[in-house]
Amino acid sequence: MSTEPETTPITEILAFSKDSWEDGPPNELFARMRSECPVHWSPEMLDFPEEAGYWSVTTYDDIHSVSRDWETYSSEIGGITAITDGVLPLELSQAMFIGMDPPKHDRLKALFQGGFTPKRIAEHGEEIREITRNVLGRLDGVEECDLVDAVAQSVVSRVICRFMGLPPEDDQMWAELMNSVMTAGDDAINPEGPQIVQEKIIPEIFQRCQALIEDRRANPTDDLTSVLVHAEIDGEKLEDHEIVMGFFLLMAAGNDSTKATYCSAMRAILENPEQRQLLLDDPDLVPMAVEEALRMFPAFAHFRRTATKDTVLNGAEIKKGDKVVMWYVSSNRDATMFEDPDTFDLRREPNDHQAFGAGGRHYCLGTALARLELKTLIEESLRYYPEMEIAGEPKYVVSGFVNQLHTLPVRLGPKAI
Ligand code: HEM
Repeated sequence: MSTEPETTPITEILAFSKDSWEDGPPNELFARMRSECPVHWSPEMLDFPEEAGYWSVTTYDDIHSVSRDWETYSSEIGGITAITDGVLPLELSQAMFIGMDPPKHDRLKALFQGGFTPKRIAEHGEEIREITRNVLGRLDGVEECDLVDAVAQSVVSRVICRFMGLPPEDDQMWAELMNSVMTAGDDAINPEGPQIVQEKIIPEIFQRCQALIEDRRANPTDDLTSVLVHAEIDGEKLEDHEIVMGFFLLMAAGNDSTKATYCSAMRAILENPEQRQLLLDDPDLVPMAVEEALRMFPAFAHFRRTATKDTVLNGAEIKKGDKVVMWYVSSNRDATMFEDPDTFDLRREPNDHQAFGAGGRHYCLGTALARLELKTLIEESLRYYPEMEIAGEPKYVVSGFVNQLHTLPVRLGPKAI
């Protein structure tokens, strides 16, 4: 079935289907859904025929309503992405606090919140800058590179692995494992198909984590892996599969999301010379560029809830058990909220985007860390290579979940420091 935005009857649109995401998010399709049918039912999932259909929630206000009402819209009973079981088994989604409802969710999240406040994260500022400079410094003598691999991946992996207490020599191995899960649906990246995640990748993550768990049990450390191993909820330690999936959640969120937003941000900056010049003239504008990149290119296209009872959302009659997909890629371009939403305008103010969620219980834990990493990465990239240019066609990961570039070829130009 075609998903051409112009011609497909609105009732036949399957927003999640892979052919809509070949060149990144189908922004025109979502614009049409927002105006014609903002809470939209798709009866099937083309690429996962065994999966049930889903509601697409596309506007800013409706996503805000869903996100804040965890009693009606559960993160636990059906999983956190549009695919219930096809990539990660449901029981493993439910072992991460992103896949739990209160009260357990709140108690587990609270163990980490103290370490992720803007103040505590700011203490890592110098270290993150040093990591970034080391990575950019390695490009000496290189004319062209892929910004995704050469810069983004190396920086974000080192930062999150440092938080988890993992040695630098393992950064790449962990990044590859996380990427394999997050990009499992892309045939070009993962020709073996998404089942490889359950057959091979998850068992390997479990096996490697078991060694870390045993090590932290014997020798407690002050890293986040140790926090998970020694966590107690109502006097009970976490089970091993909950520790592994807690580890997975932090590692996957830390690896993929910041990498994605940095690369999309750089692409937008390089494609808009006037915006780049603003940043070169006044680097204090970088935090605003970060917010605008988060808005236009949210790293996660969607997260999902499941209705716990029959309910009505903006006129749509949602039944108990239905999948409810919140499309952040759509709400962040909702023209009722953002003027001229398809334009990258780093001076946009206010910029209350939903890239980190829409204010509910599951609001991103890592916002301060992500913002600091993104600011540092953009500042240093422009300081080292102010004349950087796009050197080839950027390619997206083909996915309705992660919104990220697979490659971003750049010509670095003269090094300025
Ligand atoms: C550009 C970067 C990032 C973006 C766009 C992003 C986005 C999001 C979103 C949209 C959610 C909400 C999920 C939902 O609605 O159910 C979320 C949750 C979460 N994020 Fe991030 N994230 C980013 C970076 C990070 C980083 C660096 C970490 C660090 C470890 C992190 C850790 C988490 C965790 C643990 C949750 C689950 C929170 C909960 O369930 O209460 N994120 N993130």
